[in-house]
Amino acid sequence: MTLVVNPYEIMSAWRAAGRPATLGSHVRGQLDRLCRVTGVADPERRYADSLTDLLGTSADRPLGAPPAWPSFVSDDHTPAEFSVTVPRGGPPSVRVLTEPGCGAATLAGNGRSGWAALRRLAGRWEFSLEPLRRVETLFFPAAPQGAFALWCAMELRAHEGPGFKAYVNPGAHGPGPAAEVVDEAMARFGYARAWAAVRAHIAARRPDDDRFAFVGVDLGSWAAPRVKVYVAHHRFDLDGVRRVAGLHGGGCPERAVRFCRVAGATNRFDGRPLLSCLSFSGGPDTSGPTGHTLHLPVRDYVGDDACARDRAASVLRDQGLPTALLDRALGAVSRRRPADGVGLISYLSLVQAAGHPPRVTAYLSSEAYRVGSPRTRRPRPEKS
Ligand code: TRP
Repeated sequence: MTLVVNPYEIMSAWRAAGRPATLGSHVRGQLDRLCRVTGVADPERRYADSLTDLLGTSADRPLGAPPAWPSFVSDDHTPAEFSVTVPRGGPPSVRVLTEPGCGAATLAGNGRSGWAALRRLAGRWEFSLEPLRRVETLFFPAAPQGAFALWCAMELRAHEGPGFKAYVNPGAHGPGPAAEVVDEAMARFGYARAWAAVRAHIAARRPDDDRFAFVGVDLGSWAAPRVKVYVAHHRFDLDGVRRVAGLHGGGCPERAVRFCRVAGATNRFDGRPLLSCLSFSGGPDTSGPTGHTLHLPVRDYVGDDACARDRAASVLRDQGLPTALLDRALGAVSRRRPADGVGLISYLSLVQAAGHPPRVTAYLSSEAYRVGSPRTRRPRPEKS
Protein backbone atom coordinates (compact mmCIF):
# COMPACT_ATOMS: atom_id res chain seq x y z
CA MET A 1 0.00 0.00 0.00
CA THR A 2 1.41 3.40 -0.88
CA LEU A 3 0.69 6.28 1.42
CA VAL A 4 0.75 9.77 0.08
CA VAL A 5 2.25 11.54 3.04
CA ASN A 6 5.01 11.23 5.56
CA PRO A 7 4.68 12.32 9.20
CA TYR A 8 6.33 15.71 8.49
CA GLU A 9 3.62 16.56 5.99
CA ILE A 10 1.00 15.82 8.61
CA MET A 11 2.81 18.06 11.08
CA SER A 12 2.81 20.88 8.58
CA ALA A 13 -0.87 20.23 7.77
CA TRP A 14 -1.60 20.73 11.50
CA ARG A 15 0.46 23.94 11.53
CA ALA A 16 -1.16 25.28 8.35
CA ALA A 17 -4.62 24.71 9.83
CA GLY A 18 -3.84 27.00 12.79
CA ARG A 19 -6.29 27.09 15.67
CA PRO A 20 -9.72 26.11 14.36
CA ALA A 21 -12.40 28.68 15.21
CA THR A 22 -15.49 26.55 14.67
CA LEU A 23 -16.53 22.96 15.21
CA GLY A 24 -16.75 22.62 11.42
CA SER A 25 -13.15 23.71 10.85
CA HIS A 26 -11.92 21.42 13.66
CA VAL A 27 -13.68 18.33 12.25
CA ARG A 28 -12.90 19.18 8.61
CA GLY A 29 -9.20 19.51 9.49
CA GLN A 30 -9.26 16.07 11.09
CA LEU A 31 -11.01 14.51 8.09
CA ASP A 32 -8.63 16.21 5.68
CA ARG A 33 -5.57 14.82 7.49
CA LEU A 34 -7.19 11.36 7.75
CA CYS A 35 -7.79 11.39 3.99
CA ARG A 36 -4.14 12.24 3.44
CA VAL A 37 -2.74 9.47 5.61
CA THR A 38 -5.07 6.86 4.11
CA GLY A 39 -4.60 7.91 0.50
CA VAL A 40 -8.26 8.93 0.04
CA ALA A 41 -8.29 11.89 -2.37
CA ASP A 42 -10.89 14.63 -1.82
CA PRO A 43 -11.78 15.77 -5.35
CA GLU A 44 -12.33 19.55 -5.30
CA ARG A 45 -13.00 19.43 -1.55
CA ARG A 46 -16.36 17.77 -2.17
CA TYR A 47 -15.96 15.64 0.96
CA ALA A 48 -15.21 18.72 3.03
CA ASP A 49 -18.40 20.37 1.73
CA SER A 50 -20.43 17.22 2.37
CA LEU A 51 -19.06 17.10 5.91
CA THR A 52 -20.40 20.63 6.40
CA ASP A 53 -23.86 19.35 5.33
CA LEU A 54 -23.48 16.44 7.72
CA LEU A 55 -22.73 18.72 10.67
CA GLY A 56 -25.84 20.86 10.12
CA THR A 57 -25.96 24.05 12.19
CA SER A 58 -23.17 22.74 14.48
CA ALA A 59 -20.63 23.41 11.71
CA ASP A 60 -20.59 27.17 12.36
CA ARG A 61 -20.63 26.93 16.14
CA PRO A 62 -17.58 28.46 17.82
CA LEU A 63 -15.35 25.70 19.12
CA GLY A 64 -15.23 27.40 22.51
CA ALA A 65 -19.04 27.21 22.96
CA PRO A 66 -20.47 24.10 24.65
CA PRO A 67 -22.08 21.42 22.45
CA ALA A 68 -25.52 22.45 21.18
CA TRP A 69 -27.08 19.17 22.33
CA PRO A 70 -25.68 16.29 24.41
CA SER A 71 -25.01 14.20 21.31
CA PHE A 72 -24.36 10.59 22.11
CA VAL A 73 -22.28 10.10 18.96
CA SER A 74 -19.27 10.49 21.26
CA ASP A 75 -18.50 10.67 24.98
CA ASP A 76 -17.68 14.41 25.01
CA HIS A 77 -20.83 15.13 22.90
CA THR A 78 -18.96 16.12 19.74
CA PRO A 79 -21.56 15.29 17.05
CA ALA A 80 -18.90 13.59 14.88
CA GLU A 81 -16.70 10.49 15.12
CA PHE A 82 -14.23 8.97 12.66
CA SER A 83 -13.25 5.45 11.85
CA VAL A 84 -10.53 3.88 9.77
CA THR A 85 -10.88 0.39 8.35
CA VAL A 86 -7.91 -1.77 7.51
CA PRO A 87 -8.87 -4.57 5.14
CA ARG A 88 -6.56 -7.36 4.05
CA GLY A 89 -4.77 -6.38 0.85
CA GLY A 90 -7.07 -3.53 -0.18
CA PRO A 91 -6.84 0.22 0.43
CA PRO A 92 -8.10 1.60 3.76
CA SER A 93 -11.36 3.51 4.07
CA VAL A 94 -12.34 6.42 6.30
CA ARG A 95 -15.82 7.07 7.61
CA VAL A 96 -17.26 9.94 9.56
CA LEU A 97 -20.41 9.55 11.64
CA THR A 98 -22.41 12.66 12.53
CA GLU A 99 -25.63 13.90 14.07
CA PRO A 100 -26.81 16.58 11.61
CA GLY A 101 -29.71 17.64 13.84
CA CYS A 102 -27.49 18.25 16.85
CA GLY A 103 -28.52 21.92 17.06
CA ALA A 104 -32.31 21.31 17.00
CA ALA A 105 -34.44 22.17 20.02
CA THR A 106 -36.44 18.91 20.02
CA LEU A 107 -35.85 15.31 19.02
CA ALA A 108 -38.48 15.64 16.27
CA GLY A 109 -36.61 18.69 14.94
CA ASN A 110 -33.38 16.73 15.22
CA GLY A 111 -34.84 14.07 12.92
CA ARG A 112 -36.10 16.71 10.45
CA SER A 113 -32.64 18.33 10.28
CA GLY A 114 -31.14 14.90 9.67
CA TRP A 115 -33.50 14.35 6.74
CA ALA A 116 -32.67 17.81 5.37
CA ALA A 117 -28.95 16.96 5.45
CA LEU A 118 -29.59 13.64 3.71
CA ARG A 119 -31.65 15.35 1.00
CA ARG A 120 -28.81 17.78 0.31
CA LEU A 121 -26.31 14.94 0.10
CA ALA A 122 -28.65 12.86 -2.07
CA GLY A 123 -28.86 15.84 -4.47
CA ARG A 124 -25.11 16.45 -4.39
CA TRP A 125 -24.15 12.80 -4.94
CA GLU A 126 -27.25 11.64 -6.85
CA PHE A 127 -28.51 8.81 -4.68
CA SER A 128 -31.96 7.70 -3.59
CA LEU A 129 -33.40 7.92 -0.08
CA GLU A 130 -36.02 5.27 -0.89
CA PRO A 131 -34.56 2.61 1.47
CA LEU A 132 -34.94 4.97 4.44
CA ARG A 133 -38.39 6.18 3.30
CA ARG A 134 -39.67 2.62 3.62
CA VAL A 135 -39.30 2.82 7.38
CA GLU A 136 -39.93 6.54 7.85
CA THR A 137 -43.32 6.16 9.56
CA LEU A 138 -41.83 3.59 11.96
CA PHE A 139 -38.77 5.49 13.16
CA PHE A 140 -40.02 9.07 12.97
CA PRO A 141 -43.19 9.34 15.07
CA ALA A 142 -44.56 12.81 15.86
CA ALA A 143 -43.08 12.72 19.38
CA PRO A 144 -40.01 10.47 19.21
CA GLN A 145 -38.31 9.19 22.36
CA GLY A 146 -34.71 8.27 23.14
CA ALA A 147 -31.25 9.73 22.86
CA PHE A 148 -31.19 10.40 19.11
CA ALA A 149 -33.41 10.46 16.02
CA LEU A 150 -31.14 10.21 12.98
CA TRP A 151 -27.40 9.84 12.54
CA CYS A 152 -25.61 9.80 9.20
CA ALA A 153 -22.26 8.51 8.02
CA MET A 154 -20.16 9.12 4.94
CA GLU A 155 -17.63 6.48 3.95
CA LEU A 156 -14.67 7.53 1.82
CA ARG A 157 -12.67 5.08 -0.23
CA ALA A 158 -9.56 5.47 -2.33
CA HIS A 159 -10.81 4.51 -5.79
CA GLU A 160 -14.56 5.12 -5.80
CA GLY A 161 -17.12 7.71 -4.75
CA PRO A 162 -18.45 7.97 -1.21
CA GLY A 163 -21.11 5.73 0.31
CA PHE A 164 -23.64 6.98 2.85
CA LYS A 165 -25.43 5.39 5.78
CA ALA A 166 -28.35 6.40 7.98
CA TYR A 167 -28.88 5.21 11.55
CA VAL A 168 -32.25 5.29 13.26
CA ASN A 169 -33.47 4.48 16.75
CA PRO A 170 -35.40 1.26 17.50
CA GLY A 171 -36.47 2.95 20.75
CA ALA A 172 -38.20 5.84 18.95
CA HIS A 173 -41.51 4.69 20.52
CA GLY A 174 -39.87 4.00 23.89
CA PRO A 175 -37.85 0.96 24.96
CA GLY A 176 -40.90 -1.37 25.32
CA PRO A 177 -41.84 -1.84 21.66
CA ALA A 178 -38.22 -1.74 20.31
CA ALA A 179 -38.21 -5.43 19.33
CA GLU A 180 -41.53 -5.13 17.48
CA VAL A 181 -40.29 -2.00 15.71
CA VAL A 182 -37.21 -3.90 14.47
CA ASP A 183 -39.37 -6.88 13.39
CA GLU A 184 -41.60 -4.59 11.37
CA ALA A 185 -38.62 -2.75 9.85
CA MET A 186 -37.01 -6.02 8.77
CA ALA A 187 -40.29 -7.11 7.18
CA ARG A 188 -40.50 -3.80 5.26
CA PHE A 189 -36.90 -4.25 4.07
CA GLY A 190 -37.82 -7.74 2.83
CA TYR A 191 -35.70 -9.58 5.39
CA ALA A 192 -38.44 -11.21 7.51
CA ARG A 193 -37.06 -14.67 6.73
CA ALA A 194 -33.38 -13.87 7.36
CA TRP A 195 -34.28 -12.02 10.54
CA ALA A 196 -36.15 -14.94 12.16
CA ALA A 197 -33.03 -16.84 13.31
CA VAL A 198 -31.51 -13.76 14.91
CA ARG A 199 -34.79 -12.91 16.61
CA ALA A 200 -35.00 -16.43 18.09
CA HIS A 201 -31.42 -16.19 19.36
CA ILE A 202 -32.13 -12.90 21.11
CA ALA A 203 -35.41 -14.13 22.55
CA ALA A 204 -33.55 -17.06 24.14
CA ARG A 205 -31.20 -14.76 26.08
CA ARG A 206 -32.16 -13.43 29.52
CA PRO A 207 -34.53 -10.45 29.38
CA ASP A 208 -32.63 -7.19 28.90
CA ASP A 209 -29.28 -8.90 28.20
CA ASP A 210 -29.61 -7.93 24.54
CA ARG A 211 -31.01 -4.51 23.65
CA PHE A 212 -31.68 -3.09 20.21
CA ALA A 213 -29.46 -0.04 19.85
CA PHE A 214 -29.55 1.11 16.22
CA VAL A 215 -30.85 0.15 12.79
CA GLY A 216 -28.55 1.15 9.92
CA VAL A 217 -29.42 1.53 6.24
CA ASP A 218 -26.86 1.87 3.44
CA LEU A 219 -27.67 4.66 0.98
CA GLY A 220 -26.04 5.54 -2.32
CA SER A 221 -23.17 3.76 -3.96
CA TRP A 222 -22.51 0.30 -2.47
CA ALA A 223 -21.73 -3.00 -4.21
CA ALA A 224 -24.22 -4.77 -1.91
CA PRO A 225 -26.28 -2.30 0.15
CA ARG A 226 -27.02 -3.61 3.63
CA VAL A 227 -29.55 -3.25 6.36
CA LYS A 228 -27.95 -3.57 9.78
CA VAL A 229 -29.31 -4.25 13.24
CA TYR A 230 -27.13 -3.31 16.23
CA VAL A 231 -27.64 -5.21 19.45
CA ALA A 232 -25.97 -4.19 22.73
CA HIS A 233 -24.94 -7.19 24.83
CA HIS A 234 -25.13 -6.66 28.58
CA ARG A 235 -23.53 -9.10 31.05
CA PHE A 236 -21.60 -10.67 28.21
CA ASP A 237 -18.83 -13.24 28.01
CA LEU A 238 -16.77 -15.13 25.42
CA ASP A 239 -19.38 -17.85 25.14
CA GLY A 240 -21.93 -15.20 24.19
CA VAL A 241 -19.47 -13.84 21.61
CA ARG A 242 -19.08 -17.32 20.11
CA ARG A 243 -22.82 -17.82 19.83
CA VAL A 244 -23.78 -14.49 18.33
CA ALA A 245 -20.87 -14.58 15.85
CA GLY A 246 -22.09 -18.05 14.78
CA LEU A 247 -25.41 -16.58 13.57
CA HIS A 248 -23.58 -15.52 10.42
CA GLY A 249 -22.96 -18.94 8.90
CA GLY A 250 -19.98 -17.86 6.79
CA GLY A 251 -17.91 -16.42 9.64
CA CYS A 252 -15.51 -17.94 12.11
CA PRO A 253 -16.83 -17.56 15.68
CA GLU A 254 -13.40 -18.37 17.16
CA ARG A 255 -11.92 -15.42 15.30
CA ALA A 256 -14.42 -13.15 17.03
CA VAL A 257 -13.57 -14.75 20.40
CA ARG A 258 -9.87 -14.18 19.86
CA PHE A 259 -10.52 -10.60 18.81
CA CYS A 260 -12.35 -10.00 22.12
CA ARG A 261 -9.60 -11.63 24.16
CA VAL A 262 -6.92 -9.49 22.54
CA ALA A 263 -8.90 -6.21 22.39
CA GLY A 264 -10.57 -6.49 25.80
CA ALA A 265 -7.95 -8.49 27.74
CA THR A 266 -10.77 -10.11 29.73
CA ASN A 267 -13.22 -13.00 29.48
CA ARG A 268 -16.18 -11.08 30.92
CA PHE A 269 -17.58 -7.79 29.71
CA ASP A 270 -19.44 -6.08 32.53
CA GLY A 271 -18.47 -2.50 31.61
CA ARG A 272 -19.91 -0.62 28.67
CA PRO A 273 -21.64 -3.23 26.49
CA LEU A 274 -20.16 -4.82 23.38
CA LEU A 275 -22.36 -4.47 20.31
CA SER A 276 -23.06 -6.87 17.50
CA CYS A 277 -23.99 -5.53 14.13
CA LEU A 278 -25.89 -8.16 12.13
CA SER A 279 -26.00 -7.20 8.49
CA PHE A 280 -28.34 -8.31 5.75
CA SER A 281 -27.96 -7.97 2.00
CA GLY A 282 -29.14 -9.77 -1.10
CA GLY A 283 -32.92 -9.44 -0.70
CA PRO A 284 -35.80 -11.64 0.48
CA ASP A 285 -34.22 -14.99 -0.46
CA THR A 286 -31.42 -14.48 2.07
CA SER A 287 -31.75 -17.08 4.80
CA GLY A 288 -29.76 -15.40 7.59
CA PRO A 289 -27.38 -12.54 8.34
CA THR A 290 -24.74 -12.04 5.66
CA GLY A 291 -22.30 -10.44 8.06
CA HIS A 292 -21.45 -9.98 11.72
CA THR A 293 -19.42 -7.20 13.28
CA LEU A 294 -18.35 -7.18 16.89
CA HIS A 295 -17.82 -3.70 18.35
CA LEU A 296 -15.74 -3.61 21.51
CA PRO A 297 -15.80 -0.30 23.45
CA VAL A 298 -12.08 -0.50 24.14
CA ARG A 299 -12.10 2.84 25.98
CA ASP A 300 -13.89 1.17 28.88
CA TYR A 301 -11.43 -1.70 29.09
CA VAL A 302 -8.16 0.27 29.27
CA GLY A 303 -6.69 2.97 31.52
CA ASP A 304 -5.48 5.27 28.75
CA ASP A 305 -5.11 5.57 25.00
CA ALA A 306 -1.52 4.31 24.99
CA CYS A 307 -2.96 1.01 26.17
CA ALA A 308 -5.89 1.27 23.69
CA ARG A 309 -3.37 1.89 20.89
CA ASP A 310 -1.38 -1.20 21.90
CA ARG A 311 -4.56 -3.29 22.00
CA ALA A 312 -5.50 -2.03 18.53
CA ALA A 313 -2.02 -2.86 17.21
CA SER A 314 -2.21 -6.35 18.77
CA VAL A 315 -5.60 -6.97 17.18
CA LEU A 316 -4.28 -5.91 13.78
CA ARG A 317 -1.17 -8.08 14.10
CA ASP A 318 -3.25 -11.01 15.35
CA GLN A 319 -5.48 -10.76 12.27
CA GLY A 320 -2.41 -10.51 10.02
CA LEU A 321 -3.04 -6.83 9.20
CA PRO A 322 -0.48 -3.99 9.04
CA THR A 323 -0.27 -1.54 11.98
CA ALA A 324 1.54 1.49 10.50
CA LEU A 325 -1.67 3.17 9.40
CA LEU A 326 -3.08 3.14 12.92
CA ASP A 327 -0.43 5.51 14.27
CA ARG A 328 -0.73 7.80 11.29
CA ALA A 329 -4.50 7.94 11.75
CA LEU A 330 -4.10 8.75 15.45
CA GLY A 331 -1.66 11.52 14.54
CA ALA A 332 -4.17 12.87 12.01
CA VAL A 333 -6.97 13.37 14.53
CA SER A 334 -5.07 14.31 17.69
CA ARG A 335 -1.83 15.96 18.70
CA ARG A 336 -1.93 14.89 22.33
CA ARG A 337 0.10 11.99 23.69
CA PRO A 338 -2.09 8.86 23.84
CA ALA A 339 -1.14 8.32 27.51
CA ASP A 340 -2.59 11.74 28.42
CA GLY A 341 -6.21 10.72 27.99
CA VAL A 342 -8.66 7.93 27.37
CA GLY A 343 -11.36 7.70 24.71
CA LEU A 344 -9.48 8.78 21.58
CA ILE A 345 -9.97 5.20 20.39
CA SER A 346 -13.62 4.60 21.30
CA TYR A 347 -14.26 1.21 19.73
CA LEU A 348 -12.38 -1.53 17.94
CA SER A 349 -14.37 -3.79 15.68
CA LEU A 350 -13.96 -6.98 13.69
CA VAL A 351 -16.12 -7.52 10.59
CA GLN A 352 -16.73 -10.94 9.13
CA ALA A 353 -18.95 -10.75 6.05
CA ALA A 354 -19.75 -12.98 3.10
CA GLY A 355 -17.41 -12.44 0.17
CA HIS A 356 -14.86 -10.30 2.08
CA PRO A 357 -11.77 -11.08 4.09
CA PRO A 358 -12.10 -10.10 7.78
CA ARG A 359 -11.41 -6.44 8.48
CA VAL A 360 -10.61 -4.43 11.57
CA THR A 361 -11.88 -0.91 12.24
CA ALA A 362 -10.63 1.61 14.80
CA TYR A 363 -13.13 4.32 15.83
CA LEU A 364 -11.47 7.64 16.60
CA SER A 365 -13.03 10.44 18.65
CA SER A 366 -12.87 14.03 17.53
CA GLU A 367 -12.46 15.26 21.15
CA ALA A 368 -13.60 18.74 20.12
CA TYR A 369 -14.88 19.48 23.63
CA ARG A 370 -13.10 17.32 26.16
CA VAL A 371 -10.43 14.67 26.63
CA GLY A 372 -11.30 11.86 29.06
CA SER A 373 -8.91 11.67 32.04
CA PRO A 374 -6.70 8.61 32.02
CA ARG A 375 -7.51 6.08 34.72
CA THR A 376 -3.92 4.86 34.83
CA ARG A 377 -1.80 6.34 37.59
CA ARG A 378 1.48 7.55 36.22
CA PRO A 379 4.28 9.09 38.24
CA ARG A 380 4.23 12.87 37.81
CA PRO A 381 7.42 14.31 36.33
CA GLU A 382 9.68 15.74 39.07
CA LYS A 383 9.56 19.53 39.36
CA SER A 384 13.03 21.01 39.30
N1 TRP B 1 -21.20 6.77 21.28
C1 TRP B 1 -22.18 5.73 21.13
C2 TRP B 1 -21.71 4.46 21.85
O1 TRP B 1 -20.65 4.45 22.40
C3 TRP B 1 -22.53 5.41 19.70
C4 TRP B 1 -21.41 4.97 18.83
C5 TRP B 1 -20.51 5.80 18.23
C6 TRP B 1 -21.07 3.63 18.46
N2 TRP B 1 -19.63 5.04 17.50
C7 TRP B 1 -19.94 3.73 17.62
C8 TRP B 1 -21.61 2.37 18.75
C9 TRP B 1 -19.32 2.59 17.08
C10 TRP B 1 -20.99 1.26 18.22
C11 TRP B 1 -19.86 1.35 17.40
O2 TRP B 1 -22.43 3.47 21.88
